[in-house]
Amino acid sequence: MSKDLINQAVITLKQGGLVAFPTETVYGLGADAKNEAAIARIFAAKGRPSNHPLIVHIPDLSALSDWAVDISPDAMMLAKAFWPGPLTLILKKAPAVLSAITGGQATVGLRVPKHPVANALLQAFGGGIAAPSANQFTHISPTMAEAVREELGNKVDMILDGGLCEVGLESTIVDMTGDVPVILRPGMISVNDIEKVLKKTVLLKSSQTTIVAPGMHHLHYSPHTMTRLVNPSSGITLTQDDLPAAMLTYSKIQLPNIQSVEIADDPSQYAHDLYRLLRQMDHANLKTILIEAVPEIPSWDAIRDRIGKAAGSV
Ligand code: TXA
Ligand code: MG
Repeated sequence: MSKDLINQAVITLKQGGLVAFPTETVYGLGADAKNEAAIARIFAAKGRPSNHPLIVHIPDLSALSDWAVDISPDAMMLAKAFWPGPLTLILKKAPAVLSAITGGQATVGLRVPKHPVANALLQAFGGGIAAPSANQFTHISPTMAEAVREELGNKVDMILDGGLCEVGLESTIVDMTGDVPVILRPGMISVNDIEKVLKKTVLLKSSQTTIVAPGMHHLHYSPHTMTRLVNPSSGITLTQDDLPAAMLTYSKIQLPNIQSVEIADDPSQYAHDLYRLLRQMDHANLKTILIEAVPEIPSWDAIRDRIGKAAGSV
């Protein structure tokens, strides 16, 4: 990425504009986290309700205390272990953090991303960049620049193209404000990875309980096409009205009348490709998108969460 583009993006942010930028997880729709009007533009561009809090992206660990207070030793340990990287910490907010960012809550989500373009932008900007995923509310997060353009059109002032996102799924969110760490959104940094660092048990919030992270919503991360989660071994019932149909399959099953879209059987590679392939299927004039259910083991937790939500079945 050229220095000129980064400088232009910094100027855009300073003027209250919106800049979409790549992170290792998904593309973010960025605004100056200290500019209330710019933050309002994020919500308008996404069609997102204003009580859904935004994650503030910061350049490095040293900026943490500008945004959060009462940071526990455990929270510090996680930041040191996983930043830069796909982990968001929910911490008690510093007094100056705008309530437009936190949805009026007393906490703030913070993360140091790991993508050379995001890092260059944050360093050059020298402050916090508020950024949700750069998609329309409830739709699939973008993992490439073309997908941002498709989602936001000219509601975004500038898009920094950093190619395909490496991780492909949104960050793991851990609430560190209580007695026990709670995973609000599973991600590719797993419960097990976090427990190993903290040497204690953490909780995984079930999507049934009261919503704190509104990402834990029915029909979040959804294609426009009717999407169903299926278990091919227990049979799939389709009527003529459901056709044409295609199935995203990691076990590479072929079924009559259903086009197979193959995806890796390894969770990291699967996560990397999931949103790109769902988007492709969403453009294929299908009546039905089928997603083969994935293994019920922890390494698939984040993927199970997202495909369940894409199918509206969580
Ligand atoms: O990987 C990611 O996290 C991407 C990239 C761009 O960093 N960002 C992302 O942001 O997924 P967004 O806004 O699409 O999802 C963030 C989730 C939302 O469900 C939001 O409700 C939750 O984080 N969140 C943010 N601040 C929070 C807070 N203070 N307490 C609880 N949940 C919070
Ligand atoms: Mg999102």
